[in-house]
Amino acid sequence: MKPITLPKEFLLGSATAATQIEGGDKNSNWYHWSLKGKIANNESSIIAADHYNRVEEDIALMKDIHQEIYRMSIEWSRIEPEEGKWSQEGIRHYQEEIKALIRAGIKPLITLHHFSHPQWFEEIGQWTNSDSVGYFLRFTEKVIESIGRDVNEYCTINEPNVFVTDTFMDGKYPPGKRDDIISYFKASKNMILAHLKTYRLIHQMRESMGYKDTMVGIAIHLAYFEVSEEKMLTKLSKKLMDYSFHQMFLNGMIDGHLKFPIGSSYPLGKGVYCDFLGVNYYSRHLIHSSNNPAMLFGEVRVEEGLSEEKLNDLGWEIYPEGLYKVVKEVYNLYKLPIYITENGIPDAKDSKRARFIYDHILEIDKLIQEGVDVRRYYHWSLLDNLEWNDGFTPRFGLIEVDYKTQERTIRNSGYFFGELCRRKEITQEMIAKYIE
Ligand code: FCB
Repeated sequence: MKPITLPKEFLLGSATAATQIEGGDKNSNWYHWSLKGKIANNESSIIAADHYNRVEEDIALMKDIHQEIYRMSIEWSRIEPEEGKWSQEGIRHYQEEIKALIRAGIKPLITLHHFSHPQWFEEIGQWTNSDSVGYFLRFTEKVIESIGRDVNEYCTINEPNVFVTDTFMDGKYPPGKRDDIISYFKASKNMILAHLKTYRLIHQMRESMGYKDTMVGIAIHLAYFEVSEEKMLTKLSKKLMDYSFHQMFLNGMIDGHLKFPIGSSYPLGKGVYCDFLGVNYYSRHLIHSSNNPAMLFGEVRVEEGLSEEKLNDLGWEIYPEGLYKVVKEVYNLYKLPIYITENGIPDAKDSKRARFIYDHILEIDKLIQEGVDVRRYYHWSLLDNLEWNDGFTPRFGLIEVDYKTQERTIRNSGYFFGELCRRKEITQEMIAKYIE
């Protein structure tokens, strides 16, 4: 293993999402989903890592591991718990959290929708409702009014592609629909429109406040797709999946171009609607053919017979080269600055995380050497958290959380990552100390 030196301007930190760590929010659709017993082991979002009450403590931990940047989400249901009613308490909480981060020298990147939303929004059909775009814009306006002077960077929507898949095809997220391709495309269209309009709105609002440094983007999940066999049907399925999972969102959210089956025009005009592209990367997906047209004749599986060291605790393949491949491809297409907005591993024993980080940073280094404008790396995640329907068993944190006591312990890989953030390099000594 060779040492790696990153450019001085390259920034490193970590990412979280409100529902996964905060606890205490009874107005979110995920709390209601928990009440229905839809989370593994009957677990609930109601306490999670109690971050809402431990912001100061968690920021101190971030400092301990030298985080320069932090991606977090603002929970819509805390700002607008009932339709049209704004919570001053919720707004104040996030204003203070953001000010505390800035005081600690940590630059926030704010996600506006990270899988969860108010229960009232859920009950009106969430993103399938044609008014969803307007509701989201109104919420965004409130957020920018409240924190727009302190924060210049925003991710409008997190992983719209995973969201609609897990919500309308796989039954994992509320309301738990399956094979509902009509809702998949309806919601996708509204999320794309919401992004385009939010992009404009944030720029306009901050400009009228006198700021010229606004950066708005999305965080898209890019999986590395590969066919498992050279059959026609499998190749066709890969194309269809690649289109409806990746390309449709990229065309829509970057170029503002809605194509079949969600449109055929540029509803807001031709333009560029992302100032950076946030890439969430985890794994390789092998595509097999299937007879199910609702799943576009494909089925995603993990390669059989992989050794234990190639798999994470959720059974996903560890495939660092995929990060290089997906980023290279989108960069060649769009030439936008790239932020790696998520990359991480569930690894309760913490025996693979440091190596995982090394291997992915190596791919980033290669991209940078080849002239790809990769500027950031946000590790998923700062803390152990609620892994949505999989509950609390998967351990993604650089920092371990004991959910009984809420005690935090920085993992060995957390110290490794902290040293990397501080030095912007991985030295031979660090490799010997943390990995070999
Ligand atoms: C991503 C989500 C994030 C987290 C990781 C493991 O799809 O954006 O919230 O659950 O996966």
